[in-house]
Amino acid sequence: MRDAAPTTIYLKDYTPFGFDVEKVELTFDLHPTKTRVKSRISFVPKPGAPSDMFLDGENLTLVSASIDGTPVHPEVSAEGLTCPVPDAPFLWEAEVEIDPENNTALEGLYMSNGMYCTQCEAQGFRKITYYPDRPDVMSVFTVEINGPHPVLLSNGNVVSTSQGHAVWHDPWPKPAYLFALVAGDLVAHSDSFVTASGRNVDLNLYVRPGDEGKCAFGMRALKASMTWDEEVYGREYDLDLFNIVAVDDFNMGAMENKGLNVFNSSAVLASPETSTDENFLRIEAIIAHEYFHNWTGNRITCRDWFQLCLKEGLTVYRDSQFTSDMRSAPVKRITDVIDLRARQFPEDQGPLAHPVRPESFQEINNFYTATVYEKGAEVIGMLRCLVGAEAYGKALDLYFGRHDGQACTIEDWLKVFEDTTGRDLGQFKRWYSQAGTPRLTVKDAWYNGTYILSFTQNLPASETTPDPQPQVIPILTGLLSPSGQEVVPSQVLEMTQATQSFTFEGLKERPIPSVLRGFSAPVVLESELAAEHTAFLLAHDTDPFNRWEAGRSLARASLLKMITDDAAPDPAYLDGIHAVVGDATLDPAYRALMLNLPGQSDLVKSLCDMGETPDPQAIWDACRAMSHAQAERLQDILPALFDAHQVTEPYEPNADQSGRRSLANAALRLVSLIDGPDRARGQFTSADNMTQQLSALGVLLRINEGTDELEAFEQQWKHDRLVMDKWFGMQVIHADPNETAATATRLTEHPDFNWKNPNRFRAVMGSLAAHHAGFHFADGQSYGLLADWLIRLDPVNPQTTARMCSAFQTWRRYDDARQQKIAAALDRILATPGLSRDTTEMLTRIRGS
Ligand code: PHE
Ligand code: ZN
Repeated sequence: MRDAAPTTIYLKDYTPFGFDVEKVELTFDLHPTKTRVKSRISFVPKPGAPSDMFLDGENLTLVSASIDGTPVHPEVSAEGLTCPVPDAPFLWEAEVEIDPENNTALEGLYMSNGMYCTQCEAQGFRKITYYPDRPDVMSVFTVEINGPHPVLLSNGNVVSTSQGHAVWHDPWPKPAYLFALVAGDLVAHSDSFVTASGRNVDLNLYVRPGDEGKCAFGMRALKASMTWDEEVYGREYDLDLFNIVAVDDFNMGAMENKGLNVFNSSAVLASPETSTDENFLRIEAIIAHEYFHNWTGNRITCRDWFQLCLKEGLTVYRDSQFTSDMRSAPVKRITDVIDLRARQFPEDQGPLAHPVRPESFQEINNFYTATVYEKGAEVIGMLRCLVGAEAYGKALDLYFGRHDGQACTIEDWLKVFEDTTGRDLGQFKRWYSQAGTPRLTVKDAWYNGTYILSFTQNLPASETTPDPQPQVIPILTGLLSPSGQEVVPSQVLEMTQATQSFTFEGLKERPIPSVLRGFSAPVVLESELAAEHTAFLLAHDTDPFNRWEAGRSLARASLLKMITDDAAPDPAYLDGIHAVVGDATLDPAYRALMLNLPGQSDLVKSLCDMGETPDPQAIWDACRAMSHAQAERLQDILPALFDAHQVTEPYEPNADQSGRRSLANAALRLVSLIDGPDRARGQFTSADNMTQQLSALGVLLRINEGTDELEAFEQQWKHDRLVMDKWFGMQVIHADPNETAATATRLTEHPDFNWKNPNRFRAVMGSLAAHHAGFHFADGQSYGLLADWLIRLDPVNPQTTARMCSAFQTWRRYDDARQQKIAAALDRILATPGLSRDTTEMLTRIRGS
């Protein structure tokens, strides 16, 4: 059965559920195609409760239902059932049958490699049984599982367990989206943790036999997260048991089910031989993220799905603080901003723009976006910047104290800050209600001893925000003297007006401003300051973020001139990065980031803003030329950088070693442009870890070498699905633009292209979409190829299909010929009979009228 006709749901229509759910008891009799689920649910009508109760339910076969032991015959539709109910507390009992094996959407109860697994956020529980499937209905769950598997898991603590049978009880009331069940032939990597108050917690990481050797790092990250949340937020874990399960088929990274986190195996399994430094970093962050949800998400949850950023923005903010503390704060900030610009800005500046707290949706799964997550976290960073670290800590204590056990709103969240600080956050709240990226223009003036910085903010109108109002923008600013001394240390300029000036007195000479330090607000900064300031800041800024940002601004300006005027690469930029990259007093990871170029789709946006029509091939060529210019300018130091940053100790995925490797590999990439493949070949052959092996392979592919190495890599790793995802992805990523579609097509014909597995699908199709010049190659083949595969995947897995549609979100930035080809691809998908609600909503929004 296909999804029902789309209806739009509005925040303003929120009404509470008419009944409290006192307790829930579930019994699962597992069977691949005929799993039986019995539910016993104690409902208590609230005053004014309706006489008919509606319960959500999808793809369920109702076997029987009763109220207080008397059989009932509810009216059943594709979305749920309606049943007359008593006006006093009653016991609802029902039995349904479901088909996990044929559940390829990976939502509800499904099977992956013979293992049963659930995914209930946001609205998957209704595919397991009839229930008020909404986050403001919280209850205590007891779960009985019958099945032939050695491992039977659910939320909370074990009540009893024997061969083929287990009973679990979760004492903490929770919404149904946090329910989880896992059954399979799994092995545990076990450890334990003693909380600050001295309670022992058993920790298990369950994996498929054969993956035991990939558990140690995830476990370490979990324990580090538990300690960190105690030390920094005063939050202890609240059960005797914490389980993580790795599953191969999963739509997202991981899921914070109470006491039973389920992880995409790519987000938890790691070993030095099979995982890169980047993989380790991501795994550490996701483990922390899911663990932190226990307080920000589970103990305090969301009233409704419009409040998704309440848990996600805050939890992303917390996991970024964690990574900053575990590793390097400037490097974390820079990589977060690169990611924000690559993923959130295009969303915020195109047809999918929506406020951090949306006000309407058709399919909630389409709102697990970079805006809700990453901009949601930026908003919290701004709040902390405005009120200060101390008040932030107090407000969070108040939040946990006041709202523990509740399902909350953004209003509740802001109120704890208002009550802590006495501030009125009414205007600040616009960050939650207005879509779009504000443009912030800055200029300065100097009148005998008085220095003035003037800012203008402008938020472009959009469909969800037709009449934008000024937002509160914290602009962290410092002033430097012409000799590079910090004469005015960082302070927050709090901008609240459309146009606003800030005055600095008592300066001896005209300073050089460093504005928006640490990227203190998610805005596009347009500088009308003297152009030579940028090179000065690259050389002298004391704020590491802005120093990096100065390099990036110079790179962007130079690339744009190369593209539009055929200019040569800017020597001031090349000299500037030569000095920074060659400065041995700086962190190697930071120096490696200095060599990074702006994203190609970022350049597209800049060209559009300049009134130019972007040519993806010209952008690609300019970036290539710039890399060559970097290699030539840094030629005198690259071999030494490469040699000096080789790691000779045993591999550790820590910040120090991975920083050295990233600089050595950046040097390798550039020096190979001049010296050819020998160094990379040597590294590929001698590498004893995936970081070194994969970066060598990437360098070779980039210079059109590496055919033999690709083959050797496949032979070496064909048994390892996560490594093979890299093998698939990297061939697409490193293809020449004119060969990208053909490369992707060839890979889809590979026997191991198991397209129903989201990781494998994304390895090829996600890489195709991420290859800017290849995806937008003029013949339009990539558009057609992606459309073909989205049409094929949609009936199997609507969520993964819909997410990948965002590849087309920037289509209006391109020339008419490309737009026509993309429109044809979009229309072809939209015309597919039975297209899912998920994909229909995404494409309708992208296509526009
Ligand atoms: N809530 C999960 C997280 O942020 C993400 C997720 C959403 C996973 C929906 C699965 C389905 O950690
Ligand atoms: Zn999350």
